[in-house]
Amino acid sequence: MVEFALPKNSRPVAGKSWPKPAQATRLTEFNIYRWNPDDGANPRIDTYYVDRDDCGPMILDAIIWIKSNVDPTLTFRRSCREGICGSCAMNIDGANTLACTKAIDDVKAPVKIYPLPHMSVVKDLVPDLTVFYAQHASIEPWLQTKSPTPEKEWLQAPEDRAKLDGLYECILCACCSTSCPSYWWNGDRYLGPAALLQAYRWLIDSRDEATGERLDNVEDPFRLYRCHTIMNCAKTCPKGLNPAKAIANIKKLMVERQL
Ligand code: SF4
Ligand code: SF4
Ligand code: FES
Repeated sequence: MVEFALPKNSRPVAGKSWPKPAQATRLTEFNIYRWNPDDGANPRIDTYYVDRDDCGPMILDAIIWIKSNVDPTLTFRRSCREGICGSCAMNIDGANTLACTKAIDDVKAPVKIYPLPHMSVVKDLVPDLTVFYAQHASIEPWLQTKSPTPEKEWLQAPEDRAKLDGLYECILCACCSTSCPSYWWNGDRYLGPAALLQAYRWLIDSRDEATGERLDNVEDPFRLYRCHTIMNCAKTCPKGLNPAKAIANIKKLMVERQL
């Protein structure tokens, strides 16, 4: 039987246990994945103790606290701190989510934090999203029209605008794509739930006039049809969106255009 295992140099080993902050009375333990491409060592899991009386309520507050007070080398992405930019996506307690909107108290200690799964790691909690962004670019996420440009703006009826609800809110955090088993195994050829949700957002925009070309662009056994409706994407999306439904709707449009 074939056995799947991580290559030896990718297996996380026990890391450093950092000292508990002096005089702190309310501590929470964090186990965090660390990997530095420059030292040639295996990834390791470091243990930190956060002084909860000196730290905000969210996981992102805790890792910023660790970086500021304990270990300045801990590396992660973040920007908006309010679930808008998508940059603090990581795997917390076994699920992909945003560190800035996940409360420390909602996770059982010790809090385990890893980078988004099945992506190359740049350093520590920073995944390499180069392919993910290229896939997003490949669906041409902008309005495409053939009609003469109106003098003022492209108008849209309120009921057509409402069709974008549940789609336009996507912040491209990659939580869904990196939780999708089809994307894990075919991430180079399958577009994945995030890019496909974005593709559908433009397909159903009443102002867009490139529907045929957009469908041609995704009609492919790998780019679209690797979705097997496993639903991990909808379960994990921190914005409560449903990429699986968007993908099913694209497949429906494919069938409808044959009729
Ligand atoms: S659909 Fe949700 S999980 Fe996926 S990229 Fe968009 S916001 Fe993130
Ligand atoms: S429903 Fe499709 S896109 Fe979502 S996790 Fe499953 S296979 Fe991936
Ligand atoms: S920091 Fe922007 S979404 Fe978390």
